[in-house]
Amino acid sequence: LIAFFQPKLLAGRRVLITAGPTFEPIDPVRGITNHSSGKMGFAIARAAAEAGAEVTLVAGPVHLPTPAGVRRLNVQSAQQMFDAVLPLAPQHGLFVATAAVADWRPAALAGEKIKKTAEQRVPTLSLTENPDILAAVARLPAGQRPWCVGFAAESHDLLRHAREKRERKGVPLLVGNIGPATFGQDDNALLLVDAQGAVELPRAPKLTLARALVAEIARRLANAPT
Ligand code: CTP
Ligand code: CA
Repeated sequence: LIAFFQPKLLAGRRVLITAGPTFEPIDPVRGITNHSSGKMGFAIARAAAEAGAEVTLVAGPVHLPTPAGVRRLNVQSAQQMFDAVLPLAPQHGLFVATAAVADWRPAALAGEKIKKTAEQRVPTLSLTENPDILAAVARLPAGQRPWCVGFAAESHDLLRHAREKRERKGVPLLVGNIGPATFGQDDNALLLVDAQGAVELPRAPKLTLARALVAEIARRLANAPT
């Protein structure tokens, strides 16, 4: 019922969201991943849909139910997430990158399970860098580029890192998770960093925060050029 009465702040908007971790395969039975639960991204997808948006959610491997009315695409690796997001981005007015994308993947994918050898030699993993999905979307030409929101989980110096990351990624709004580590938790606190400065959304359940964040984004989007 509360969901039904949310103000339709994103009516007529198309919103693309990434969420969850990625999984970078080493061989057919192993891989590299991280502790992202996807909960914040899924809450934002739900809040955006409640606010009247048409929502596409590109999700890494998480076992979370798809919010009502949301179109969901499941991916595993960062490269798959990149390949799903880039062609969709120009059809959306807003992009919210909450996914904890693996920065690196194994340089070579073994076709068969890597076996322990008789000599018990420990294999060495060689890594290569994944594409930066948010930075690539933020670099799309005007007219094809959605308004971009980045996320950052930092262990220290959140404000400084969030400011630097906002500049580096070239996005109008960067949202920092205020520690301690929020992975998997049901509540969170956020620091919103934009050209005007920084404002804090105090600790609250993730859905409450997601609704507040959607309102903050909608206000900025309404004032944005194009
Ligand atoms: N991101 C992305 N693709 C990547 C890496 C990050 O889309 N390959 C996005 C995340 O979804 C997030 C933002 O970029 O919105 C910041 O991610 P983060 O990991 O904090 O920043 P990095 O630039 O990867 O820097 P570092 O991990 O070294 O702090
Ligand atoms: Ca990273």
